[in-house]
Amino acid sequence: MCVVSAHLATVQVVAVIALVNQKGGVGKTTTTLGLASAAWARRVPSLVVDLDPQGNATTGLGIWEAATNVDEALATDRPGIADTLAVSSAWPPDQGTAPRVVASTTALAARERQLLSDPVGAQDRLRLALSGCDNDLVLIDCPPSLGLLTINALFAADKALVVTEPSAWASDGVSEIMGTIERVAARKPLGLEVAGVAVNRLARTRDSRYWNEQLITDHGALILPPVRLRAAVAEAAAQSLPIHALPPRKGAAEACAEFDQLYDLVIASSAPNLADQD
Ligand SMILES: Nc1ncnc2c1ncn2[C@@H]1O[C@H](COP(=O)(O)OP(=O)(O)OP(=O)(O)O)[C@@H](O)[C@H]1O
Ligand SMILES: [Mg+2]
Repeated sequence: MCVVSAHLATVQVVAVIALVNQKGGVGKTTTTLGLASAAWARRVPSLVVDLDPQGNATTGLGIWEAATNVDEALATDRPGIADTLAVSSAWPPDQGTAPRVVASTTALAARERQLLSDPVGAQDRLRLALSGCDNDLVLIDCPPSLGLLTINALFAADKALVVTEPSAWASDGVSEIMGTIERVAARKPLGLEVAGVAVNRLARTRDSRYWNEQLITDHGALILPPVRLRAAVAEAAAQSLPIHALPPRKGAAEACAEFDQLYDLVIASSAPNLADQD
């Protein structure tokens, strides 16, 4: 079940997480797929919403020609429509629970411009579309901008997970998105929690370590344990496989452990029912 009343404190079943950063190429999609892979391995049913016209999460989940897509959710106010737009991903169903996906389309770029002309529903169409949907975990992969697509994701989410890489001025970019998250949180009755800052693609270079330290200095406890730069991470996406399904080898196993830890900290810690459904 996806939606629960705030007063049903004992039935914490929902986690809607928006993965955000206005900066491109930092690992939003990679982290979305890594968390979806951790859910796959634990047999937690999940739904990935691909809000980026580039559609990398959609292809990472093995979908090229989806019959339905997320643009239909944003076209009008349609409560619960996300559930009917979701298609099964092509991740292997035998060793895990394959996520469903509300696929991207290039039409999303035009939709963002069209939303600008809607004085009432521009910000929360995705929230309406997800209301009442039947998923334990929803991961929303955002485009690299602070436009209305990302704003829709933040209005739909319970938690925002900021994704960054340890590179020059990343910390300033994180501060900028934090400001946007705070402004959205102030406009939502139940607020919007910051799940933390996932540092992706940490390399074994002095430069990478320096900028990681800078992130920790500036954002303290919000900085989550890093996901390191590893060939296996890019390979899993290129092969449209969950990283947990790659043939066992050191790099893949270490990457899985990092995404598992992120999953535990961001998702399972606040929604124990999403810890493991084996
Ligand atoms: N930890 C990692 N190890 C190796 N390669 C990585 C890692 N994280 C990301 N990459 C690679 O870096 C590239 C950018 O990552 P990704 O697409 O996840 O970023 P993004 O923030 O979603 O980008 P965009 O803003 O364009 O949507 C991809 O080719 C991805 O495979
Ligand atoms: Mg992306």
